[in-house]
Amino acid sequence: MKNYADLWTGYKARKSAGDIAVLKKFYLSGGAESDKIVINAVKELKDGLKAMLGIDPEVVYGQAAGCAPVANGKDIQDREEYTVSLCDDGVRIDAKSGSGILYGVFDVLRTVSCEKDVKAVYASGKKVRPSNPLRMLNHWDNMDGSIERGYSGESFFYVDNEIVIDDRTRDYARLIASVGINAVVINNVNVKQAASYMITDRYFDKLAELGEIFAGYGIRLFLSLNYASTIEIGGLDSADPLDENVIAWWKTKMAEVFDRIPTLGGFLVKADSEGRPGPFTYGRTQADGANMLADIAKEYGAIIIWRCFVYNCRQDWRDRKTDRARAGYDNFMPMDGDYHDNVILQIKNGPMDFQIREPISPLLGGLKKTNQMLEVQIAQEYTGHQIDVCYLIPEFKEILGFRTYCGGDKDTVADIISGDTFGSRYSGIAAVTNTGNDFNWTGNYLAGANLFGFGRLAFDTELSSEEIAEEFVRMTISTDDAVVKEILDILLPSREIYERYTSPLGIGWMVTPATHYGCSVDGYEYDRWGTYHRADHLGIGVDRTDKGTGYALLYNEPNASTYNDPEKCPDELVLFFHHLPYTHKLHSGKTVIQHIYDTHFEGYAEAQQLAEKWNALKGKVDEDIFENVSERFTRQLSNAREWCDQVNSYFFRKSGIPDEKGRQIW
Ligand code: GCU
Repeated sequence: MKNYADLWTGYKARKSAGDIAVLKKFYLSGGAESDKIVINAVKELKDGLKAMLGIDPEVVYGQAAGCAPVANGKDIQDREEYTVSLCDDGVRIDAKSGSGILYGVFDVLRTVSCEKDVKAVYASGKKVRPSNPLRMLNHWDNMDGSIERGYSGESFFYVDNEIVIDDRTRDYARLIASVGINAVVINNVNVKQAASYMITDRYFDKLAELGEIFAGYGIRLFLSLNYASTIEIGGLDSADPLDENVIAWWKTKMAEVFDRIPTLGGFLVKADSEGRPGPFTYGRTQADGANMLADIAKEYGAIIIWRCFVYNCRQDWRDRKTDRARAGYDNFMPMDGDYHDNVILQIKNGPMDFQIREPISPLLGGLKKTNQMLEVQIAQEYTGHQIDVCYLIPEFKEILGFRTYCGGDKDTVADIISGDTFGSRYSGIAAVTNTGNDFNWTGNYLAGANLFGFGRLAFDTELSSEEIAEEFVRMTISTDDAVVKEILDILLPSREIYERYTSPLGIGWMVTPATHYGCSVDGYEYDRWGTYHRADHLGIGVDRTDKGTGYALLYNEPNASTYNDPEKCPDELVLFFHHLPYTHKLHSGKTVIQHIYDTHFEGYAEAQQLAEKWNALKGKVDEDIFENVSERFTRQLSNAREWCDQVNSYFFRKSGIPDEKGRQIW
């Protein structure tokens, strides 16, 4: 017995929809029969069809298009696209690489698993080109086995500072490849202790093995790098990116690393952030640091992904001028165009840190001459720790659809990160992942929808939240239409419900410090992290307008004017940009204070309804799944109740304004 679930790759018997005779023969063209990705794809196809429909398909290999080595850049999309079509006696999958074949196979298996009519789906040929070149997961796993912001057990990559490779590793590669992930960073961005030695002989053999396993599923391995490796493992006294000894050390080191781990795609770097070392120590810029590494890595076709999460985390709460929201922009925008062509800046979706509601980072649409990648978080750090159900795909859809007005027609975030807007060679999307060694991988079975959904959306940004959720439910939990509908009714509104019972109108941060689960309205108010709500007896919110920190003006027009004006600013972000009296009327017609009361009472009540919906599924879904989610809902409800009562009591006590509806406030 495996000690982990197969989730959506646990192909169970399926009803055949329509005529399935066509599934008895497959013509594959585009990857050589000997290509290990093709070998894995064919095994997947045979295992999947056998388990679901009892079919053992014959496979005919067509012309091999030649297997170019896995690349990192824009050309990736050409190599990974696929077409599934029907011919007289079978199904054709045409691609230009093993990866394309693999994705085509997973498309067919998804169709069968969702009990869709194969003939109808592929009748006129289905061609899919990945929306983004890089579709990446960032693990924040530490080598001692712990996971930074992990809510589903311990790491399955590391135990006691050793790398573990077993069946789970292989099944993980299948699982994420099946939704289109093609790159993975396997260690925490905060690279400390043993992880600093990842780039030494201590770990090379295991990393090479891991890299090969991933490569077999079209996934490129990346490592997070300790920027100060020259000091911490190299015996030098500097990490100055312009120092010749530092450069020479990295040249030797990278030659060794890429020789020993040939599949390595490059490195992710968190520098000058939250205590991590970086080029600022030496009076150098972020570009100096990134370029030095990138120039050396270039020889190996590798890239440097440099994070933009650089801000002052030792702020004085009395200081109203310094604005953490500005930091990414202020630190990175002045050097737009200076980053070398194999550097990608990785930008968190919002200017703060993965709150349930934030505006889009103004770097997206600000930077025009720099490769960019979006970073989102499916680890539910601020969104309920995989205890509370919070399906994040609707949020990601909003982010991707946001118009930046950076010029030209293609100005959404989706356009920018696809590489289309600025013709960038390297671009894409990464998620801080939500997996661990729990049986069900993600703590809460329903949180699996975020792992599945992130991959699907990264591959095809046109898919809707509903389509993705439905695929997840059908493939993972049940194909019964009534059950599917009930679970969709839980998943789809869950993000807005979470928002309603937690922090209002874009203000964020009313969480328990350090753990980030549960309510603490003033938890971060008098702290050093730059995260304030500024509530007093008259009003609440941060003035980020031209009269305040000026942050609103960092956007292109008309976004800047919209955000700068409380009358135009969307309600859901109004306290992010403005300090307003509790009596201020929102577009909804409600006052700020009444909005706070209403949304909190409603959010808690809606969470109760979600739990009731789930309880009604007893006996209709697997016992294991039912119990897991039920237990989580019990905890979600007590969390939601605390949020509701604490937030409402806090603002009633501050403002002295009663609830119009006379509900109980403590
Ligand atoms: C947040 C998170 C940290 C993490 C950091 C990052 O601040 O709480 O645990 O290291 O983001 O993204 O680097």
